[in-house]
Amino acid sequence: MIGACSIALHISQAQTKTNTQDAKMNAFVSSLMQKMTVEEKIGQLNLVTPGGTVTGSVVSKDVDSKIRNGQVGSLFGITGPDKIRKAQEIAVNNSRLHIPLIFGLDVIHGHRTIFPIPLGLSCSWNMDMIEKSAEIAASEATADGLSWVYSPMVDIARDPRWGRVSEGSGEDTYLGCQVAKAMVKGYQGSSYSDPTKVMACVKHFALYGAAEAGRDYNTTDMSRIKMYEYYLPPYKAAVDAGVGSVMSSFNEVDGVPATANKWLMTDLLRKQWGFKGFVVTDYTAINEMIDHGLGDLQRVSAEALKAGIDMDMVGEGFLTTLQKSLKEGKVTVAQINAACKRVLEAKYKLGLFDDPYRYCNEQRFNNAILTDANRAAAREFAAKSMVLLKNNNNVLPLQKGKTIALVGPLADNKRNMLGTWSVSGDPEKSITVLQGLKNVAGSDANIIYARGCNISDDTAFAKKVNAFGKEIEIDTRSPQQMIDEAVVAASKADVIVAVLGEAADMTGESSSMSDIGLQKSQKALLDELKRTGKPIVIVLLNGRPMTLTWEDQNADAILDAWFSGTEAGNAIADVLFGNYNPSGKLTMSFPRNVGQIPIYYNHKNTGRPYSGVGAGKFRSNYLDVSNDPLYPFGFGLSYTSFTYSNVTVSSPTIKQGQKITASVTVTNSGKFDGTETVQLYIRDLVGTVTRPVKELKGYQQITLKAGESRKVDFTISVDDLKFYNTDLKRVAEPGDFKVFIGTNSRDVKEADFKLVQ
Ligand code: NOJ
Repeated sequence: MIGACSIALHISQAQTKTNTQDAKMNAFVSSLMQKMTVEEKIGQLNLVTPGGTVTGSVVSKDVDSKIRNGQVGSLFGITGPDKIRKAQEIAVNNSRLHIPLIFGLDVIHGHRTIFPIPLGLSCSWNMDMIEKSAEIAASEATADGLSWVYSPMVDIARDPRWGRVSEGSGEDTYLGCQVAKAMVKGYQGSSYSDPTKVMACVKHFALYGAAEAGRDYNTTDMSRIKMYEYYLPPYKAAVDAGVGSVMSSFNEVDGVPATANKWLMTDLLRKQWGFKGFVVTDYTAINEMIDHGLGDLQRVSAEALKAGIDMDMVGEGFLTTLQKSLKEGKVTVAQINAACKRVLEAKYKLGLFDDPYRYCNEQRFNNAILTDANRAAAREFAAKSMVLLKNNNNVLPLQKGKTIALVGPLADNKRNMLGTWSVSGDPEKSITVLQGLKNVAGSDANIIYARGCNISDDTAFAKKVNAFGKEIEIDTRSPQQMIDEAVVAASKADVIVAVLGEAADMTGESSSMSDIGLQKSQKALLDELKRTGKPIVIVLLNGRPMTLTWEDQNADAILDAWFSGTEAGNAIADVLFGNYNPSGKLTMSFPRNVGQIPIYYNHKNTGRPYSGVGAGKFRSNYLDVSNDPLYPFGFGLSYTSFTYSNVTVSSPTIKQGQKITASVTVTNSGKFDGTETVQLYIRDLVGTVTRPVKELKGYQQITLKAGESRKVDFTISVDDLKFYNTDLKRVAEPGDFKVFIGTNSRDVKEADFKLVQ
């Protein structure tokens, strides 16, 4: 009783503190706004980029004079306390009201120390690690002058042709929510007023990952049930975790571009979800609504403001048209005030009114970036993100004392280690696979390196990919000469390690691909290597699930290393030599071919369900390929093996307010100690709306010594059984359920239970 009282007292004290802080902020912001002209208020809604780190097709003009004139609220694209101080000084010393700027940037998977791409990080299924990666990124970003990051990207995606799958956490909503929470917590800590933390910006609200045909910026269209059930929850999870800002997406939602969608930005985000921060558009998203067909710049800018957008990224539609719209009665002062207030509140919370230079700390700039500790973390996170897709005859881990033919265009390639959206990462600081193998194996391995082929031989394709730098470098040697060199190296070796895959910018923004297999040049190399008869280990560097049917049949081992960042080479070597036993599990299905896309594990059963290859006519299947992916969601091997007992449930029934436990005993039945992610899926067999064949509802990561067994218990509550019905209410309906537990979404054991009234 005493405990409960004292907790209540703490809560009410905390509430009083928040109320007092809010009251102080409100008083400050409203007194400031009383001094502001409408022009100055509109200026606060303008986000500019002066060039520097350029992430879009246009940059802002006359930035200094606009800051002086009070026409800029925030700025992105520059880093370094010196540069940021200079820009801040213009705002603070030379603008009429001395209002400081917020400085933002795309800090996506690390800042200067680059971690694996987000898709890779998600394959760790390790939320503490993901949170830590965001925390380190925040600490480096703030030491570099920044206070606002355009992350996390939480767009659910089921189509690997879409290059931006590399920036998200894959296809699953449950996991996506966990990652969203962890990232926001890592970036913002308990409060982003702490000068080593940043304000996060969840993006791209909403449904951006559902672009038709996997083509970036393309139309999305889906039922409300699908939105609520699968696509919206990760954004909501970020909002619930207290994210400070939201970025609108380029696509339309229910026929209206997100950036002018009042239902989305106001009714759902603010009224239903209670979001209190500000909403920024994506890059020129307001202007792009002209091409969407919504009207001229004045009209689309007014629509955006009225929908609930607070800040205009780069396009200056607000800056150039809102006053006119105000005079013509197309927008109201109240709408401008509301947006301005939210931006000023963010500045207040960031502590910028107390000290506009609080992120310009030279000492931190010199001591907190690319530290040994951050690099060590990058190495650990990279190893934990890799997924072992195949390992025949235990060809991995590599044995000591052998000769290794290290081949492939990505084997000694600093430029491509970091992956997309590593705008502040220095490729020169990255460790290649060749360096990593030497560092880790030392004299225990004899390494013969040969490049073997180009990432691609197609010059026109290379030109497009190389927009941000030479990622695909076409060698002066002929393709055949390079292959011959690799074959000579292979003939002298015990094992071939072929480092293949994509160039970093073959994924990321505006990097959709209609063919997601290895490029022809790399396939030709593999073909020749296969003829040598030597065991082939493929180390894949990639930003998306790829089609690897041939590789799966012909290689002895495949390790998916993603683009794993600054410490990629060391981490890959750690895994190849068994210093780290791989534990990553896929968060996106790998299709057998492009024709299977969209492909995802939590699909519906249909009225004519697939019943295996050769099932014949009148079933929902293909004539030429199975329905199943090559590697399913949740899949990933280890150097050891894990065996699962049957699943038991503590009770065959569950009722409202009750919980049941589903249990399994997992045994490490192999020779290595290892970490396993035990996955729990549920199926609702009968409902008023159709339910998927499986849905992830929990997972536990356990580390077992060779030979060790452990019982793993999962608690299932009625809340886990809920779904959105046709009234968009989250309900649990009585009836039969299945619970599945296993090592991936395909290989599971099951038990039955009932929800009773
Ligand atoms: C466009 C991208 O869609 C978004 O993710 C990014 O944050 C902005 N550009 C700013 O670079």
